[in-house]
Amino acid sequence: MTSVIQALNLTKVFGSSTAVDHVSFDVQKGEIFGFLGPNGAGKTTTTRMLTGVIPPDAGTATILGHDIRSEPVLAKQGFGVVPETSNAYTDLTAWQNLMLMGELYGLEHARAERRSNDLLGMVGLLERKDQKVQAYSKGMKQRLILSMALIHEPELLFLDEPTSGLDVQSTQMILSLLRDLNEQGTTIFLTTHNMEEANRLCHRVGIIRSGMLVAIDAPEKLKTAIDRVHRIEVSFDREVSGDLLAGIAGVSGVNRTGDKWQIIAENQDTAIRSLVAFGKQNGAVIVSLNTLVPSLDEAFLRLTQEEKP
Ligand SMILES: Nc1ncnc2c1ncn2[C@@H]1O[C@H](COP(=O)(O)OP(=O)(O)O)[C@@H](O)[C@H]1O
Ligand SMILES: [Mg+2]
Repeated sequence: MTSVIQALNLTKVFGSSTAVDHVSFDVQKGEIFGFLGPNGAGKTTTTRMLTGVIPPDAGTATILGHDIRSEPVLAKQGFGVVPETSNAYTDLTAWQNLMLMGELYGLEHARAERRSNDLLGMVGLLERKDQKVQAYSKGMKQRLILSMALIHEPELLFLDEPTSGLDVQSTQMILSLLRDLNEQGTTIFLTTHNMEEANRLCHRVGIIRSGMLVAIDAPEKLKTAIDRVHRIEVSFDREVSGDLLAGIAGVSGVNRTGDKWQIIAENQDTAIRSLVAFGKQNGAVIVSLNTLVPSLDEAFLRLTQEEKP
């Protein structure tokens, strides 16, 4: 296995707060690696350091064998970036944007033209290539930005929340393009705050929280860790005893929230069955019963709690 990205203690401090705190990880050639975390966790700051936009305050990273601090230009030739905020010029056409990008990477004119044609075809924008980008929908614009990032045929692609704010169709299209690119050999590093997206797309996921990497694993393994404890919200038409509730099969904890009970369940199926039986036995009618899917934040909390017993 070859490491395409090796981050070692990457750190960035803004004023008195540490946005990225000694983050270390490796991404292997051919992987889709997801960098998952809530807003403000440090995803963009990490991506910016990796792609040479801002220097780290401590630590470093090697991209395709080049240290980002000593050989930033060499590193940049091997990767493409879809940044968090659009880098397309809205008063230029898609074609002009691509040709400009080709020039930035020093592509010969003929090659830039050939690549632009191929890429616009790939992202479904060939017919709109002579239209100014300001007329594009958000999804079209994002597809253009993706094609711009690929103009020099990079072997590594960084994407910072590439589907954020996009409609379902554009999201699907981008994700499927990323899958195709990966199948053709492109290594992909993408940030997202969407657990489901990471789960569907990524071979491995690193979870960042408050600037710190709290877990790194295959999504299924992370999900198992997250889904081990289930929560069920139930309400009855009359008062029931919390102590009795806490004692029923499959239930490991009980909290009162307003007129509802939050049940912590080791086994969701057992807990629901015994809740129904409990209602019958106590002459209480179940008014509502919901299983609560853990939010990303809860997942993070549990993961961090598990890291530090
Ligand atoms: N240029 C900056 N100056 C000061 N603080 C910043 C700057 N960029 C990011 N931050 C702060 O660093 C933290 C991480 O931000 P960011 O990397 O953008 O998170 P994410 O991309 O995960 O939402 C946040 O608290 C943010 O406010
Ligand atoms: Mg961000």
